[in-house]
Amino acid sequence: MTNSKTLVVYFSRTGEQYSVGNITEGNTAIIAKMIAEQTGADMFEVKLKNDTYPTAYKALTEVALDEKKANARPEIIGDVANFADYDMVFVGTPNWWADMPMAMYTFMEAHDWTGKKVAPFVTHEGSGLSSIPSKIKSTTKADVLNGLAIYGHVAQNSREEAKDDVTKWLKKLGF
Ligand SMILES: Cc1cc2nc3c(=O)[nH]c(=O)nc-3n(C[C@H](O)[C@H](O)[C@H](O)COP(=O)(O)O)c2cc1C
Repeated sequence: MTNSKTLVVYFSRTGEQYSVGNITEGNTAIIAKMIAEQTGADMFEVKLKNDTYPTAYKALTEVALDEKKANARPEIIGDVANFADYDMVFVGTPNWWADMPMAMYTFMEAHDWTGKKVAPFVTHEGSGLSSIPSKIKSTTKADVLNGLAIYGHVAQNSREEAKDDVTKWLKKLGF
């Protein structure tokens, strides 16, 4: 896949997170950067236009659950230039309530994924991938490859271990 054009799209939060305390670089962001470094992919961070999410973990879980129940589509900032040019897209997300932050759906629904390969990666604290790959599949109709699940606290605090997992996974995907 070395000649294909590759993108990493991800969502990630700083602030207080489960089992890692207050972080200045999000767990998923750390993995996203490792993937981009190893594949030479471009990166795009999905960010809310009006980011009123609490920085306190528990408060954030409540807001996130309300958004999930409402099937919300929060507005996001900016867009990927020439999305059509990418044939391989890594989609990275924290596991929020066994799902993705709703802003990921805002992004996914705004694009045509026909013919693209999608490799999902998820940081979590016990739930793993949940059904996130199948949610990505039903939303994008893309060819969804085997996903990678990494504990958030491993991404944050055991970076060499996380990097090994990323490298092994990328190898299996043909990178
Ligand atoms: C709103 C919210 C909901 C979460 N729900 C789950 C969950 O259902 N299962 C799980 O394993 N972890 C859950 N977590 C933990 C996150 O998946 C984990 O901390 C992740 O690494 C955060 O990534 P980030 O730093 O990139 O935002 C939740 C965290 C938040 C903030």
